[in-house]
Amino acid sequence: MSGANQQQIEHWNGPGGASWRRHQERLDDMFAAFSEAALRAAAVRPGERVLDVGCGAGATTLALAGMVGPGGAVVGVDVSAPLLGRARERADAAGLAVELRLADAADAPLGGPYDLLFSRFGVMFFADPVAAFTHLRAAAKPDGRLAFMCWRAAADNDWGALPHRALRDLLPPLPPTDPSAPGPFAFADRGRVLAILEAAGFRDVALAPFDAPLRFGRGDSREAALDDALAQAAEVGPLTRLLAGHDDDLRRRALAAVRAAFAERAGPDGVFLRAAAWIVTARA
Ligand SMILES: C[S@@+](CC[C@H](N)C(=O)[O-])C[C@H]1O[C@@H](n2cnc3c(N)ncnc32)[C@H](O)[C@@H]1O
Repeated sequence: MSGANQQQIEHWNGPGGASWRRHQERLDDMFAAFSEAALRAAAVRPGERVLDVGCGAGATTLALAGMVGPGGAVVGVDVSAPLLGRARERADAAGLAVELRLADAADAPLGGPYDLLFSRFGVMFFADPVAAFTHLRAAAKPDGRLAFMCWRAAADNDWGALPHRALRDLLPPLPPTDPSAPGPFAFADRGRVLAILEAAGFRDVALAPFDAPLRFGRGDSREAALDDALAQAAEVGPLTRLLAGHDDDLRRRALAAVRAAFAERAGPDGVFLRAAAWIVTARA
């Protein structure tokens, strides 16, 4: 795999893939309500053929396989070898016959044709989203469906914005970023998503907001939950990128600032951060 998505391919085979793999159970637990809502919107039926785009460690791939049953088929495609490896282990352990392809969903052969193109947070990383979605649509049946979940704006997602706010006075100012650059918030703008999907040939595009708190950290006490939340945030997610390359002293001060911000959201058994997504549906 190489080409326009090379930077993302390196990230998801490097630090991004390693930390998502290490925290797979925790992340799946955190995203459970989001999975459920996206799968409900996908209206999966027994016997269908489904492509799970950017399937990662396979949580939704396995759920989809259970929903389509033995008469259907599910293919997961992802660029990340470590995450697909985890998906393979889980599928084997569950005795589920899913196909897992290590490939760039933007331009690799995808098999099909599929009744449903599905994704949980796996489609915001394409360098050329119109080309990628045009390619994906070609793998769908003429009356096939698209259903995916993506994040709304960082400002509506405390898990994304809070570390930035907490570190504002500690870190040198970050260079301005292009809000449409590949990354978790690339599909935050409703108009942009509509334009991309319509340019790729999808019809009846609809975006519905979905909000639920994300639980960071667990513990028997508020302090233990806070420690756990901080340990998680330091290993996976936006804080890791903010702290990359900084010395130990700054890291210590930064983590203290994030802990103080988390403390405002801590309950007796966890830290709960606001999260806001779109559920996007369309016809191929
Ligand atoms: C935020 S993770 C979500 C993973 C999984 N869907 C989940 O919800 O746990 C994004 C996933 O998209 C994958 N990805 C990024 N760019 C991709 C591409 N061009 N083709 C296929 N997968 C891609 C990454 O490797 C990663 O597994």
